Amino acid sequence: MRIAIIGAGNMGGAIARGLAQSGQMAKNGLVVANPSRHKLEALQAEYSFIRITQSNVEAVRDADLLLLAVKPWKMEEVARELKPVLDYRAQMVASVAGGVGLADLSALFCHNELLPPLFYIMPNTAVAVRQSMTFVAAQGASEEQTATVVNLFRLLGEAMLVEERLMDGGMALASCGIAFAMRYIRAAMEGGVELGFYPDEAKQIVMQTLSGAVELLRSTGNHPEAEIDRVTTPGGITIRGLNEMEHAGFTDSVIRGLRAARPLKK
Ligand SMILES: NC(=O)c1ccc[n+]([C@@H]2O[C@H](COP(=O)([O-])OP(=O)(O)OC[C@H]3O[C@@H](n4cnc5c(N)ncnc54)[C@H](OP(=O)(O)O)[C@@H]3O)[C@@H](O)[C@H]2O)c1
Repeated sequence: MRIAIIGAGNMGGAIARGLAQSGQMAKNGLVVANPSRHKLEALQAEYSFIRITQSNVEAVRDADLLLLAVKPWKMEEVARELKPVLDYRAQMVASVAGGVGLADLSALFCHNELLPPLFYIMPNTAVAVRQSMTFVAAQGASEEQTATVVNLFRLLGEAMLVEERLMDGGMALASCGIAFAMRYIRAAMEGGVELGFYPDEAKQIVMQTLSGAVELLRSTGNHPEAEIDRVTTPGGITIRGLNEMEHAGFTDSVIRGLRAARPLKK
C-alpha cells in the first residue's frame, strides 16, 4: 500500500517515523508532504527511503491512502487543494485532525456529489514510540479497506475500530489518559522520595511496577481486581494502603477526571 502523509509536524512526523521503523512499508510506499523543507529533510536523513515533497498534489498522485496530519484549521485549505485531483474510486482519505469528525470530513471532501472512503483517526502521543492507543472511525469504506487502515495503525501500537460516538470517550481514556498516567507516576515518585528513594530511583521503580502490572494483565487476561486479591493479605499493608487511597477518593477522582476530559458540547 502507498501512503501519502500530508503534514510532517509532531503527529505526521511521528507516524512517518513509526511506519518506517516497522519495516512493513514497501519501497516507495511512503511519501510525506510539508510546506517547509527542514522537517522533510530531517525525516529523509533518518529514513532515506521516505519520499519527500513540498507539493501535496504530487504526494497524493499514486497514493492508496492519504493521511492528513495538519492542524484542524488547515484542513479546509488542504481539502480544497486535493479534492479536484483525488481519484474517489481508488483513494482513501484519513485524518488525525482532532475534532474534525466524519461529518466535517464529508463536507470538506464532497466533490461532484462523490465521497471517498473516510477515516477519522485518533492516535495518542505514544505513537512516537510505536505504542499508541489509536481509535479509528470509518465511513463509506469496505470491510477490507477498514481492516487495512486499522492494521496500518497496529504497526504503531494498538488500534481499535469504534463508532464515531465513542471517539470523545476514547480521547479521554487514551489521549488525555497519557497525562493521567503520567500524573500517577509523578505522584508515586513523590511518595517514593518520602519513603527514602532518590527521584530517579523512584521513577525507575514506579515505571517497572506499572509495566509489570500491565504485563500481568496481558499474560493472564485477568481482571485487575483478581491481581489485587493476590497481593492483599487480610489485615495486611496493601489493603491498608488501598483503603487509604480510596478514602481520599482515588477511584472517584479517576472517573470524574475522565468524565471532565470530554470536549464541551457546542
Ligand atoms: N500532537 C498530538 O499529540 C496529536 C494527537 C492526536 C491528533 N493530533 C492532530 O494532528 C494534527 C497535527 O498536529 P501536530 O501536533 O502534528 O501539529 P504540527 O506539529 O504543527 O504539524 C502540522 C504540520 O502541518 C504542516 N502544514 C501546514 N499547512 C500545511 C499544508 N497546507 N499542507 C501540508 N502541510 C501543512 C505544518 O508545516 P509547517 O510547520 O512547515 O508550516 C506542520 O509541519 C492536528 O490536527 C492535531 O489535532 C495531534
